[in-house]
Amino acid sequence: MRKQIGGLSCIVWSRINCYCVSSLCSPAVLSAASVSTVQQRKLHHAIIPKGKGGRSSSSGIAATVFGATGFLGRYVVNRLGRIGSQIVIPHRCDQYDIMYLKPMADLGQIMFMEWDARNKDSIRQALEHSNVVINLVGRESETRNYSFEDVFVTIPQQIAKAAREAGITKFVHMSHLNADIRSQSKYLRNKAVGETAVRDEFPDAIILKPSEMYGREDRFFNYYANMRWFGNAIPLIALGKKTVKQPVYVVDVAKAIINAVRDPDANGKTYALVGPNRYLLHDLVEYIYAVAHRTFVPYPLPRPLYHLAAKVFALNPFEPWTSPDKVDRFHITDFKYPGLPGLEDLGITPSTVEQKAIEILRRHRRYRYLEADLEDAKPAKTVNY
Ligand SMILES: NC(=O)c1ccc[n+]([C@@H]2O[C@H](COP(=O)([O-])OP(=O)(O)OC[C@H]3O[C@@H](n4cnc5c(N)ncnc54)[C@H](OP(=O)(O)O)[C@@H]3O)[C@@H](O)[C@H]2O)c1
Repeated sequence: MRKQIGGLSCIVWSRINCYCVSSLCSPAVLSAASVSTVQQRKLHHAIIPKGKGGRSSSSGIAATVFGATGFLGRYVVNRLGRIGSQIVIPHRCDQYDIMYLKPMADLGQIMFMEWDARNKDSIRQALEHSNVVINLVGRESETRNYSFEDVFVTIPQQIAKAAREAGITKFVHMSHLNADIRSQSKYLRNKAVGETAVRDEFPDAIILKPSEMYGREDRFFNYYANMRWFGNAIPLIALGKKTVKQPVYVVDVAKAIINAVRDPDANGKTYALVGPNRYLLHDLVEYIYAVAHRTFVPYPLPRPLYHLAAKVFALNPFEPWTSPDKVDRFHITDFKYPGLPGLEDLGITPSTVEQKAIEILRRHRRYRYLEADLEDAKPAKTVNY
């Protein structure tokens, strides 16, 4: 039977009992098999794990990735695609705007599908043929249509509910390291409520709490590097000497999602995902400017004045570059969670800022194609508090 999804013709995964052919089950494949065999739903043979584990094999994962069109989304889709997974990408933009995702998996393995986060049927349809659901939906600032509560509480709750009702056993939800009901940031308060709402709706959900992520398309390192447009003068509350940050590399977070999906023991756990080092915000931004070969001229800006300036940017109805909430979020010291498992527990060695910064910051250099890699940039000072 054939059905149109997102304009593409694909075979509907009919309900055939899931079985494992012993000759197909290599050790690499067996770990992946945990996803599909644990689940009691009947799955099509197309997602029975087989092959050597590469792009053209089958990982046993059929994942719906909500929020795949964002910053983290592309890395997650890429990681899923390269191990041979089927990926459903619910989107609300023009399909042609996200064609860059298509080559990330084998032919026919990525299916686009329009969705409306307020329509429960559309959520249900997006995940009904999957055995894994990943929620990456997020937004840096509120819009006229969607408040932080909608994006971080209601939508995740609805997705978790639909996943539970569909009998899905793997649900990954992205929260934030500093999610806290008492936070001064509305974003982080709603993230905390969202975590509880998801846990109530889907007790076995895997909740991941990354710190600020950096990577080529990030809104952290690029945000500070772009401040050079204001004459290299970088406003920092208390000169950034009272804020400690422990940023994490986006690829490590994407790997953590895949490993959590493949680890049968991850269900129901909350992970704190952070980089290996903690830095004073001041030292981190100084390092960003050193790698970008730009002069660093920080100046202290009192919070009310910073908020006032940020409010002007927040008037932008599309993608505000900053907002008072973002200013607060970036000046909150990253929490430490010694009791929570982290990247190492998912088999990942976290990358250091010094290893990856050049990927993001080369384009902020004046002569970016001619100059060597990190060469003379002195590593940022680390702190342990
Ligand atoms: N970036 C970080 O440093 C960081 C740190 C910690 C936690 N997180 C969390 O990790 C997750 C992924 O982060 P990210 O940086 O990849 O986010 P992002 O780039 O802002 O992408 C967010 C995704 O959510 C979708 N989305 C937002 N509002 C929606 C709505 N009302 N209806 C349907 N889709 C909606 C966006 O779709 P459109 O493309 O259509 O807008 C996009 O695909 C988020 O939950 C974020 O809060 C991020």
